[in-house]
Amino acid sequence: MTQLLLRGRLLSFKRAPLSLTDSESYLYESDGALLIEDGRIIAAGDYASVKEKAPEEIEEIDHRPHLILPGLIDMHLHFPQMQVIASYAGSLLEWLNTYTFHEECRFVESAHAARIASHFYDELIRHGTTTAAAYCTVHKSSADAFFAEALRRGMCMVGGKVMMDRNAPQGLLDTPEMGYDETRAVIAEWHGKGRNHVAITPRFAITSTPAQMKAAQALAEEFPDLFIQTHLSENHEEIRYTCELYPQARDYTDIYAHYGLLGPKTLLGHAIHLSDREADALSEAGSVAVHCPTSNLFLGSGLFPMKALMRREKPVRVAVATDIGGGSSYSMLKTMDEAYKIQQLLGERLNPLESFYLMTRGNAEALGMADDIGTLDAGSAADLVVLNAASTPAMRLRMETITTLPEELFLLQTMGDDRAVVETYVAGKAMKRNAHD
Ligand code: GUN
Ligand code: ZN
Repeated sequence: MTQLLLRGRLLSFKRAPLSLTDSESYLYESDGALLIEDGRIIAAGDYASVKEKAPEEIEEIDHRPHLILPGLIDMHLHFPQMQVIASYAGSLLEWLNTYTFHEECRFVESAHAARIASHFYDELIRHGTTTAAAYCTVHKSSADAFFAEALRRGMCMVGGKVMMDRNAPQGLLDTPEMGYDETRAVIAEWHGKGRNHVAITPRFAITSTPAQMKAAQALAEEFPDLFIQTHLSENHEEIRYTCELYPQARDYTDIYAHYGLLGPKTLLGHAIHLSDREADALSEAGSVAVHCPTSNLFLGSGLFPMKALMRREKPVRVAVATDIGGGSSYSMLKTMDEAYKIQQLLGERLNPLESFYLMTRGNAEALGMADDIGTLDAGSAADLVVLNAASTPAMRLRMETITTLPEELFLLQTMGDDRAVVETYVAGKAMKRNAHD
């Protein structure tokens, strides 16, 4: 039995904040502590009372004056796109065809997949991200590398072998049968091993034939507990081409609905340009629209109406993500900075409490995992991030004039990046200091 006591300023959300002054929505301890045993939080609260519960010789790490939060969660990214980030393209389809598909072909080599997987987790940890929902490539070897490395590091990860059988280079295509068989093999080898969760992952309707969609449907019926992840309505040209490929469908969303792929465990990347009918369909299915702000700006895809979708009569569940490598930063802080600016352009307000809720508990709820990750509640995994809002000279100077917690969070979101991440804990183990440079 290993025990650890962490001291610092605790912040953990109980529910979505309704306003900037909604202090009931979160727990904040200005001198707080977490008692951790075998990778789990067993007590959280003010330092004095938690210390009382701890044995005398316990290892104690003092992170004051920094904030201790649940580890950040990234709900959509592509681990094989680490060497695609910052590729110069006018829009989504050009970016995919010119750079991304070619790069993904390299993951047929297990050694390459293993090398990138290692860098991938180093980068997540450097940025305070402890759980992510990721796409691998079409190659089973990429999923093997992804899950093997997650297992080695004890991280809670969602991932899937991509299914794609058309409209891409030959080296990146499976068939309906292969997509089905290899996804099944990945499930058998990795699902439930350590903290691994396999997702059924048809890339998007453009790269899957109707026959492959049927194969994905068969998997979804056989494994109803699995996540399903795909892309939806990211770019106007993509939407036009998709509807041309599926002329019977009412709209893009209807394609996934037709193949039984819309449910409460479905994570839909982007979902920017939805009609009212499509938003209703997502709401009724309980599916999650995953907002990827740095990617949407970088690829010029559009402005995701997050607040409008959340306050509909039939609200759409929303999560947030980096979308590496369409996205331009691994940082969930930067991600929320860009999310804020997108809402500004839409005439909406996204307050910093909501941002920090979304990166932690909100994303955990979108995964249905809030009992395990996303909060500092006793019983949760000790996946944590320690944040310093004075991590650069400019931030330190600005901190001199800051007096409230929401102001500090807003500074972290606006100016923070991996330098603000003092430490990242995975199941109670400090990981950042061990990550490669
Ligand atoms: N749509 C289908 N594949 C992708 C991808 O890799 N990135 C983004 N941003 N959109 C996609
Ligand atoms: Zn994506």
